[in-house]
Amino acid sequence: MATNRTFTMLKPDSVEKGHIGAILEKINASGFRIVAMKLTQMTKQDAEAFYAIHNERPFFGELVEYMTRGPIVAAILEKENAVEDFRTLIGATNPADAAEGTIRKLYAASIGENAVHGSDSDENAAIEGAFHFSGREMF
Ligand code: RTP
Ligand code: MG
Repeated sequence: MATNRTFTMLKPDSVEKGHIGAILEKINASGFRIVAMKLTQMTKQDAEAFYAIHNERPFFGELVEYMTRGPIVAAILEKENAVEDFRTLIGATNPADAAEGTIRKLYAASIGENAVHGSDSDENAAIEGAFHFSGREMF
């Protein structure tokens, strides 16, 4: 069976609100294997680089401020069709548009503070995983 990988972050609001356990429970129950995981905090430089694709957007400053204000949980996840299935599990960027039962519907406060990140392609999953983890930290 073909498997592939995605990259996720439980964003600072999820950690602040004590939602790490509940979100990981949903991830496990949805059939993802944890390949790598850590509690870490992004620097301003990290967040600017990670979200560089958005650096012309009006919300970029807020996004960097949000993503650096406290610890995150970074993880690489493995499952058949991982990228697409994980985006389905987290729901739409704006929780107001997210489907019932999705992580963002359950735990996100707003489009700006939306609880969780999910890679949008296999290529970006590999880039983002390598941004946070060395080969020795992947299992
Ligand atoms: P992510 O990359 O974090 O998984 O989120 P996404 O693909 O669903 O959304 P994307 O368009 O990549 O936006 C990245 C993050 O920027 C923040 N954002 N704020 N205030 C706003 O209008 C706005 N729009 C986006 C969110 O934190 C979003 O997840
Ligand atoms: Mg995105």
